[in-house]
Amino acid sequence: MQHSATDSILIHDRTFLRLIQHSAIQKKVRGLAEQINSDYKDRNIFFVAILNGSFMFAADLLKNIQIECRISFVKLASYKGTRSTGQLKAIFGLEESVFGQHVIIIEDIVDTGLTLTKMIEDLKSLGAQSIDTVSLLRKKPAREKGPEVKYVGFELEQEFVVGYGLDYDGLGRNLSDIYHT
Ligand code: IMP
Repeated sequence: MQHSATDSILIHDRTFLRLIQHSAIQKKVRGLAEQINSDYKDRNIFFVAILNGSFMFAADLLKNIQIECRISFVKLASYKGTRSTGQLKAIFGLEESVFGQHVIIIEDIVDTGLTLTKMIEDLKSLGAQSIDTVSLLRKKPAREKGPEVKYVGFELEQEFVVGYGLDYDGLGRNLSDIYHT
């Protein structure tokens, strides 16, 4: 991965251009936290952050949350289903019970919305009392027919993005700005 003084970056074989600067991300994250602080002022929050991509967003968001809260980092494990629909996924890494809790899912980006839909189903079946979602980024397909995302940072078209936790083939998560193809 090559950094340069310009607004572009090379990762593997692809050149990415800077899309959102770190200062703009921080401002947006503070705004999202303010909305959550206001909407949840009478409730404790159980955040469920989806790894790997959301680790940086989750850390910055929680620094701005002023309500008593817990956080658990989870993954969705893929395994081959026997049905023709292809891959099924199951939540893992949730060490505390979400039964009766007010859950806010933290996503880095919602693209098709399939990951989020599965996560919501799983958390419902585990007895969460309420479930909202905060996502830093959302792409067009999810806007058109994905599950509801109550708190969205930036709306995108369909471009691939990298940085601020998001990777391209394993690289780029450490970048503090967000880049696109
Ligand atoms: P979905 O299930 O299609 O909504 O995809 C959600 C997941 O795909 C995210 O949590 C990311 O891990 C990954 N993803 C989707 N779009 C991008 C992207 O542009 N860059 C990096 N990862 C992405």
